[in-house]
Amino acid sequence: FSTVKASARNGAPLYLQLKKSIEDAVQRGVIGPGDALPSERDIAVKADVSRVTVRKAVQDLVKGGILVQRHGSGTFVAPRVERVEQSLSRLTSFTEDMARRGMAVTSTWLDRGVYPPSPDEIMVLGLSAKELVARISRLRIANDTPLAIERASLSATVLPDPTAIGSSLYAVLERTGNRPVRAVQRISAANLGDADAKLLDVPPGSASLNIERISYLATGKVIEFTRSIYRGDAYDFVAELRLAG
Ligand code: GLP
Repeated sequence: FSTVKASARNGAPLYLQLKKSIEDAVQRGVIGPGDALPSERDIAVKADVSRVTVRKAVQDLVKGGILVQRHGSGTFVAPRVERVEQSLSRLTSFTEDMARRGMAVTSTWLDRGVYPPSPDEIMVLGLSAKELVARISRLRIANDTPLAIERASLSATVLPDPTAIGSSLYAVLERTGNRPVRAVQRISAANLGDADAKLLDVPPGSASLNIERISYLATGKVIEFTRSIYRGDAYDFVAELRLAG
């Protein structure tokens, strides 16, 4: 960072120069993913700029996702996420997908309970207005990196006690003879709002892939209606295509 003052007279605002030199340091690996940034004061002294300038540069880099700030513990170089390659042609669960990659899965519960269904849920799950819906919302984490927010709805007759499911919904469905055999999945691009970005540990406005999965039993009955928000920087969806005809 000490190069900043030396080039102070080249015109660009000091905070932009400092920002660039921090970015360069990250790019060259001088400070790596997950490393703590020196304190604001240390940077200010080294670069011979004011702490206000340091704060401005750091804030910009946090906004850009290069750095992350954790309350109480400081500023760090954003950890690099290993991109996950996800097949679009196999009907698997999050737990199975991550286990195949040797990644440790955890989930944070955002909500689980039985509710009167929304109009969407009535329509997709084919419920009557009197029936109840089981909702499970989770933040899905692999190797300590939050990858997706998933909100699943199922008929409460299939899942009467959503608080009893362990770590895998599909494992419960398998045990109860309700494992889906077919699904239709719709993927659309979006930008994360503040709350979801916070959960996924990325800057607000970051790219996401929103996935809606409607899955079916062999009988043709809809069993699951799930809306998921996947981190755009963490997923590659891959499908094999064949010549039609
Ligand atoms: C994937 C699908 C969801 C499904 C989930 C089940 O993530 N996108 O639609 O509900 O897997 O995963 P698990 O069995 O780990 O709870």
